[in-house]
Amino acid sequence: MEYREFGKLDLKVSALGFGCMRLPVIDGDNARIDEPLATAMLRRAIDQGLNYVDTAWSYHSEQGEPFVGRVLQDGYREKVYLATKMPSWLVKSQEDLDRYFDRQLERLQTDHIDFYLLHTLNAGYWENYLKIKVFDWAEKKLSEGKIRHLGFSFHDRYEVFDRILNGYDNWEFCQLQYNYMDVEEQAGRRGVCEAAEKGLGVIVMEPLRGGRLAVQNPPAPVAEAFSRGTRKWTMAEWALQWLWDQPEISLLLSGMSTMEQVEQNLRSAERSGIGSLSEDDRETIRQVQQAWSGLAPVPCTSCEYCMPCPNGVQIPRIFKLYNESVIYDRQQRGQNAYKNDLSDDQRADNCVECGQCESLCPQSISIIQQLKNAHAYLSGGTA
Ligand SMILES: NC(=O)c1ccc[n+]([C@@H]2O[C@H](COP(=O)([O-])OP(=O)(O)OC[C@H]3O[C@@H](n4cnc5c(N)ncnc54)[C@H](OP(=O)(O)O)[C@@H]3O)[C@@H](O)[C@H]2O)c1
Repeated sequence: MEYREFGKLDLKVSALGFGCMRLPVIDGDNARIDEPLATAMLRRAIDQGLNYVDTAWSYHSEQGEPFVGRVLQDGYREKVYLATKMPSWLVKSQEDLDRYFDRQLERLQTDHIDFYLLHTLNAGYWENYLKIKVFDWAEKKLSEGKIRHLGFSFHDRYEVFDRILNGYDNWEFCQLQYNYMDVEEQAGRRGVCEAAEKGLGVIVMEPLRGGRLAVQNPPAPVAEAFSRGTRKWTMAEWALQWLWDQPEISLLLSGMSTMEQVEQNLRSAERSGIGSLSEDDRETIRQVQQAWSGLAPVPCTSCEYCMPCPNGVQIPRIFKLYNESVIYDRQQRGQNAYKNDLSDDQRADNCVECGQCESLCPQSISIIQQLKNAHAYLSGGTA
């Protein structure tokens, strides 16, 4: 196993961490972890030197933490840094913080958490945490040794990331969604570099975009771009090595769901290292990025010049959903998100064709027509 520096902390983490959000389950039921298999997977990885295990209050319908607590019996707890997270959407007071934290220690059968995160921070949760004085609470836990290191995971825009990163002086690490297709999404590469520059450990989550960058049958342009590379790596390995090559990254979490994936990713980690990609390899990834992006039906860059729409239509969000659903062949998921995450008046069929957006779009997108296409696709039609 390769080990890496972790920000300013005097410790080393394995290049590969185990993300316990996608463990194997029985009959597709997320609450029923296949315990014998998942236990064997985690312990195999730890036996091979993996030393960072990430879980959260909510994973596997709240069965994740109790399961991880059981896996880490028999001497395994001492071999790893254990990470879990405060469920930001549930806490309204300091009493809540205490209640969830105490319960987590019980579930995980431990007296301390090595890496504790405020889970999935966004602008709203951040404001709430400031209101309930979360840092007074956390610093008490740190001084008692119940939390060893404090950080946050993040899902929002870069500007919000910047505010949170600079809104507290003693962050020790952060956990970001980052992969070769999310270079400009969320905190993005800018956020990764800024955090590393400040001396935080940077943990990558969703290194394979939740599996979308490691599909069995990639679209032809993507497969062709990979085949022009000189390495005979799997899609997963390309994505992981692209991350490990970067000095700003401390470790990456993989949500492995089969033993085969564990074995493959352990082997990849073994071969990893800062600066291990050649210029040819980086060029291959650039071509792959272009191949994926070229599959998008709308060349929208989410610059938001078109916003606000006078009629409330969420133009960039709709195009993003449309593009992602087409690129990664996930129409059903796109349809669900279109139905559940947008209100009636935000959807594309609320467009009254005033055309204000088209006159503002730097990409000259035929927004009115593309909104019709997006609506048809996200309501059940074809791209
Ligand atoms: N704090 C937060 O807000 C937050 C949010 C997201 C994730 N996380 C954490 O970060 C971890 C990592 O994120 P993630 O689970 O999305 O990671 P990921 O690595 O992007 O996606 C995991 C999926 O990739 C596929 N995969 C993994 N290894 C593979 C291989 N060698 N070959 C082919 N496919 C492979 C599997 O998909 P299939 O099952 O389809 O085969 C697996 O379920 C999570 O498990 C969780 O611990 C935290």
